[in-house]
Amino acid sequence: MSDTSNKKIIFSGIQPTGIFTLGNYIGAISNWGRLQDEYSCIYSIVDMHAITVRQDPVKLRAHTLEAYALLLACGIDPEKSVAFIQSHVKTHAELNWVLSCSTQFGELSRMTQFKDKSQKHPDDINAGLFTYPVLMAADILAYNADLVPIGADQKQHLELARNVAQRFNGKYGEFFTVPEPYLPPVGARVMSLQDPVRKMSKSDTNPNAVIFILDEPDVIIRKFRKAVTDSSSEVRYADGKDGINNLMTVYSVVTGRSFGEIEAEFEGRGYGDFKTAVGEAVAEHLKPVRDNFKRLTADKAYLKECYTKGAEAAERISQKTVTKVYRKVGFVDKR
Ligand code: TRP
Repeated sequence: MSDTSNKKIIFSGIQPTGIFTLGNYIGAISNWGRLQDEYSCIYSIVDMHAITVRQDPVKLRAHTLEAYALLLACGIDPEKSVAFIQSHVKTHAELNWVLSCSTQFGELSRMTQFKDKSQKHPDDINAGLFTYPVLMAADILAYNADLVPIGADQKQHLELARNVAQRFNGKYGEFFTVPEPYLPPVGARVMSLQDPVRKMSKSDTNPNAVIFILDEPDVIIRKFRKAVTDSSSEVRYADGKDGINNLMTVYSVVTGRSFGEIEAEFEGRGYGDFKTAVGEAVAEHLKPVRDNFKRLTADKAYLKECYTKGAEAAERISQKTVTKVYRKVGFVDKR
């Protein structure tokens, strides 16, 4: 990717906390791949964000490499996009500090994710958890990203990043691009297979509720066959049929068929047939991801080359920002 292209810049990050789910894939990562030709894309595995909750160091290292391989397996092309591991690029921590001095205690206190996570981990309400959104702002502003693909749960954090950028610009003169959320044209919210009013979540304790993108075909089909639906038997998208609506959404995304076409396809055929068909279609859809992942993890040297180059490119771009920021706030030039 050239630094000088006039394509709009996209930045997004994902935490290395285990295999991505079908929800992560359909709602986020599969879109990241589609954006690569139209935009200058920068994607990061955000391991520094991950340690705001307690992590086993051995697992974090493994999960970070696995997440990086998954990113490539899902179609992020390291020749087209900058794909890197956050802790490899020191400018994020540097910019984080400067931006934290343009962030108010009060606005961080209003973050609902902080409130939720402090309730979940009452014995470890650390300062990093509190200032997490500032690091996220640094991730985005370091590249002067125009657009940030995010899920609904990150909207408040992005709003904070915008406020921080505007406040900095107000104090030191127009400098940062104020980022906009990017809402993908296609992309759906995938719900739990066991409790379809809740979002599909990596951390669900019921293994049947969530499809991991590396699940084997028989596992995927079994989980879909056990999906919770309602007591009728008509495959039709309708209010109150949360389970069926979710399965129809997934089937529609992976097959490209409309709801009308799906309803016609399963007319008079009951839920059993439909669930099996969804499972088979998803298993087939994820086959290239599984194959790519196997190939990539067998070639550690290639992966390392990719993340090393990614970090170099990310540093080249973001160092320019940090150098200018340091000058703006009044730090003395190093040379
Ligand atoms: N906080 C995001 C999440 O948990 C991950 C993230 C970190 C991110 N930095 C980012 C997302 C910058 C978008 C842009 O999902």
